[in-house]
This record gives sequence, structure tokens and C-alpha cells, in this order.
Amino acid sequence: MNSSPILVDVFIAAFLLKADSPMAKRPLEFSCQACGAVYARWQGRCDACGEWSTIVEEAASAPLPGGGTIAKQARKGRILRLESLVGTVDRAPRIACGMGEFDRVTGGGFVTGSVILLGGDPGIGKSTLLMQVTAALANEGHRVVYISGEEATDQVRLRAERLGLSKAPVELAAETNIETIVATLSEGAVPRLVIIDSIQTMWSETIPSAPGTVTQVRGAAQALIHFAKKSGAAIILVGHVTKDGQIAGPRVVEHMVDAVASFEGDGALNFRILRTTKNRFGPTDEIGVFEMTSLGLAEVTNPSALFLQGRDLDAVGTAVFAGIEGNRPVLIEFQALVAPSSLGNPRRTVVGWDPSRLSTVLAVLETHGGLKLGAYDIYLNVAGGLKINEPAADTAAAAAIISSMSQTPLPPDRVFMGEICLTGALRPISQAATRLKEAGKLGFSSAVLPKAGLDATANGVVSLHAVANISDLIATIIGRKPGKQRLETE
Ligand code: TYD
Ligand code: MG
Repeated sequence: MNSSPILVDVFIAAFLLKADSPMAKRPLEFSCQACGAVYARWQGRCDACGEWSTIVEEAASAPLPGGGTIAKQARKGRILRLESLVGTVDRAPRIACGMGEFDRVTGGGFVTGSVILLGGDPGIGKSTLLMQVTAALANEGHRVVYISGEEATDQVRLRAERLGLSKAPVELAAETNIETIVATLSEGAVPRLVIIDSIQTMWSETIPSAPGTVTQVRGAAQALIHFAKKSGAAIILVGHVTKDGQIAGPRVVEHMVDAVASFEGDGALNFRILRTTKNRFGPTDEIGVFEMTSLGLAEVTNPSALFLQGRDLDAVGTAVFAGIEGNRPVLIEFQALVAPSSLGNPRRTVVGWDPSRLSTVLAVLETHGGLKLGAYDIYLNVAGGLKINEPAADTAAAAAIISSMSQTPLPPDRVFMGEICLTGALRPISQAATRLKEAGKLGFSSAVLPKAGLDATANGVVSLHAVANISDLIATIIGRKPGKQRLETE
């Protein structure tokens, strides 16, 4: 009946031995490769981000570097008084790379010890941009290291040759092991800038998961961030982007880094936009505009002229929007095509704008403007591949749609701006004066904008057409009020 005490002791001893042994296998955990959420067991769909088939088995969190435990490594920290720090450093010391469009996005240059995550589609030009940035800094006499995990040093050299930068004193390495990288970087003078191209190819010996998994990406990023903070080197981590625009896997990394930038553009077109979505040391939503040429990326200092280039002035269905990207005014063309539909459920296709915003504008045009759009397919395109997020673009989109539906071309020298409310009214816009100034500079002579808040925007160059609501907007375009009767375009 009684179990033998000896047997129990043997069990306990075996258990302790297993737990203490360095050979003990670490438990498994399951982590989502899209968002980094961790689960105790496998499941088909991630509860955190809703993605399917992204959960992968990985070994649980890595041990501390050096193999110690937290208790063994703990030592006393130092607490400082904020007031004692005031005046020690004027502001974060920055190094500008000299490419104005890049420095504008970082907020005036790289902050010492900061880490930037740069995302973008494959082939968009991230490596090209970073090669130009590193060469510019190296030519200024700074120590700059470019570490490629994707390409051999010869490939990087070929790109530099193509860009005419092969003489720049940039240090190159093709390496993916994070311990080797940190050890190498720690030797000699502290580099001012280190490029890691890309973070998904990096792996650490202390983490038993495969390279590219969330645990590896997070571990590698952690090691590099630690190095940056300790040494004062600025680091740019290149990150790949998934098909739906997320920086693949390391959404977790976005929390850890100081700034997140993305390099965007339509592959078929030549210009590229660099944009920050997070910046601990500078502005967000500032954009830098570049053009891909046979000699690499050229800065575009006047983006409006580029976005409006080749515009068909007599076409129906086009309206120019006076927008603001970051702190900079940008003029951009909205193109609409309203075509009779043979489908029961007419098509609504949008490029460069939010589809739900289009649905809202269409509903307002139908309800408050009297337009019958139910029998038409509607295509809306922001020319040039720029993505517009501003609500003030509503009026330009609506104007393009009204123009296409009524086959009335809009005056080619007119810009549109204003957010449309669900009540049909146009809401006041911010920074109207800046927008109008840019329009005037590019030869536009009139602007349609909301009546509300107009006083503040008086401007001598551009004549203003104030509209109170959507039926006023239709009237300025087709020359009469839509009233109760429907437009004769059915
Ligand atoms: P790359 O920087 O390799 O893209 P990423 O690192 O984002 O994957 O750029 C690749 C594209 O850029 C390639 O399709 C060719 C084009 N390109 C030019 O048009 N001009 C140039 O001078 C260079 C170097 C590249
Ligand atoms: Mg690349």
C-alpha cells in the first residue's frame, strides 16, 4: 500500500537534476510571426491580430547573454535627479547626412545612439537610399559601417559603383550573426552610423529559433539597440514589408526603436516617398520625396511640380487637391471616372485614398447633392502613387467625381480643399494659408474651399470661392444648384 520513500526521493532527485541541468530543454512556446503574440499551444488564427497560419513553434525566451540568471547578474543601479541633468546636454546631438530630403524626415539628422527602423517593399530602393546616405556621411569623414545580410560585399560594391560612390570610405561587411556584428562594431572608433540590411536576416546564437522568426528578429534588434545606446552609434535597421504593408514580423520591434520610417512608391513610377510614423526625436508624418534615376535616388525639392507633371488640363474628372504632407504643402491631382455599370453591385475602386472615405463622400453626394450614383462604376485615383490620408481631400475627390459624372471639365488653374461632413457641410481646414501660397507659387489662380473659417485665409494671389456645403460645390462646378431634381446624367 505505502509507496516506498526511497522511490519518492529518486523521483525528486531526478526532477531537480532535470531542472538544474544546463542540458535541460527549454519549453516551447508558439508565437505569431505577424504581430509577435505568444501562446502556450498552437492555434490556427492569432487572437491578437486576426491573421491565419502565422503561429509558429519556437523555443521560449532566450537566456541572458553570458548564460547567467537575473539574480546572479543583478547589481545596483544609479538614480539621478532630473534637475541635475538640466544644462548638461543642450539637445540631442545630431549628424545631418547632407541629403536634405532625408534629414527633413529624421528631424535634422541622426541622433547619437538612436535606432531607426526603415521599412519598404522589396526593390523599392532601400539599399540604394542607404548606400547614398552612408557614402555622404563617410565622405564627411565619419566612420560608417554597412552590414548586408542579404547581399555579398561584391553586390554592394557593384551598386555603389553604379551610383558613382565606390570611392566613398564606407566600411562593408556581409554578416548575419549578431554576436559577431556587435563584437566587430565594438572594436576601434565608435561608428557614427551602422546600417543593418536587413533585420530579418540577422540571427543570434543564444536564440534557438530559425532566422526571420519573431523571436530572432526581436533578439537581434534588442542586441543592436543595446549596442547603440551603450556606444552612441546611430543604427538603421532595414525591415521587409508584408503584402498588407506591415513591417513583416517585427511589429514588436516598432515599439523598441526610436523611429519608424517607411519608403514607399509605386514600383512602376519613379518617385519614392520617405515617411516617418514614429519619431522620438523629431516630427512624424514629414515626407521626403525622391526620384529614382539611373544614377540612384535624386532629391525632389519641389514635389508639387513633380506630382502635377504631364497633367491633361482639359480632361474631365480631374481636380487638384492642395494638401499638406508633414509641414509641407503638396499639390496633387485626384482623377475620377464615373462609368455606367452593368453589374448589380457597381464597382468602387480606389488607389491612393481610403475606400471607406470614398463611400462616405458618395453617400453625401447622393443624399445631400442629389446625384444618383447607384448605377455607375466609380474609379478614383490619386495621380502619381502618393497615399493621401488627409480629410481635407474630400472636396477634391468629390469635385473630380462631379466633373466626371457631369462631363464638365474643371478650370485647370483651380485647387480644391475641405473636409465634407455627413450633413453635407464643408468643415474648415487647417493651414489654409500655406496651401494657398503653394497653389499661387505653382500658377493656380483660384481655390474652392469651405466657407467656414474663411476670414483667416485671406490671400492676395489666389481668388477664393467659398462653398458652404456639397450642393454649393456642385453649383460651382455645373453652374446651377442640384435642388430637389436629380442631375440629368442618369
Ligand atoms: P534596391 O535598393 O536594391 O531595393 P531594396 O533594397 O528596397 O530591395 O533597389 C532596387 C531597384 O532600384 C532596382 O529595381 C533597380 C533600381 N535602381 C535604379 O533604378 N537606379 C539605380 O541607380 C540603382 C542602384 C537601382
Ligand atoms: Mg535591399
